[in-house]
Amino acid sequence: MALAADVGLIILTSLWLMLPAYLANMLPVLVGGGTPIDMGRTWKDGKRILGDGKTWRGLLVGPLLAAALTFFLQWLVDNTAWGRSYGFPGWGPSPWWFVLAYMMGLGALAGDALESFIKRRTGRDRGEKWFPWDQLDFIIGSLALGVLTGAILAATGATSGNHFLAVFTGPRLLVIVLLTPGLHLLVNWIGYKLGLKSVPW
Ligand code: CTP
Ligand code: MG
Repeated sequence: MALAADVGLIILTSLWLMLPAYLANMLPVLVGGGTPIDMGRTWKDGKRILGDGKTWRGLLVGPLLAAALTFFLQWLVDNTAWGRSYGFPGWGPSPWWFVLAYMMGLGALAGDALESFIKRRTGRDRGEKWFPWDQLDFIIGSLALGVLTGAILAATGATSGNHFLAVFTGPRLLVIVLLTPGLHLLVNWIGYKLGLKSVPW
């Protein structure tokens, strides 16, 4: 029983910690659109550099809104008995949690844009399915910028030690990589059923 509770808490805290990335990746479906990042330009192969699915509005507003929402999550960690008694981790001391959450969101969308670039180069159209990279692109980008930001905040003395590495432990990273693809497919299927997305993946 105790083991099951421990595993359950590791899973919950892992998904909790990734919320800035999950939110940043989901929000552009609602707030994105408009001018594409590649401005409609094509690459040497005659295909779009990124495509119409990667827009400036999504890239700029997604991470900012995700970090703003993390304010509430960090507040819960710092101020509720629930946050303290279950040991729910946060994104660092104020105001640096905002920087880490924002960079995790930006990393998510940068990873997603990089995936679109590779998708176009390998002849896949916008919205075409590419498992498991559609599901993992934003995780890779978010974790990469997260660890880098944690290192910079530690090196400048803003935080004592790399807060990112302190909370994103090995078991949690494993949970994130294993569970995110399924969650991503589920959320996208719901988005499709709600009429927010044109494809169910
Ligand atoms: N989106 C956006 N700006 C971004 C990223 C995403 O506006 N920087 C919006 C777009 O409306 C996009 C939707 O979020 O269609 C879902 O993103 P994603 O599934 O990654 O894009 P796809 O349309 O599937 O395109 P691609 O094949 O390039 O991944
Ligand atoms: Mg993608």
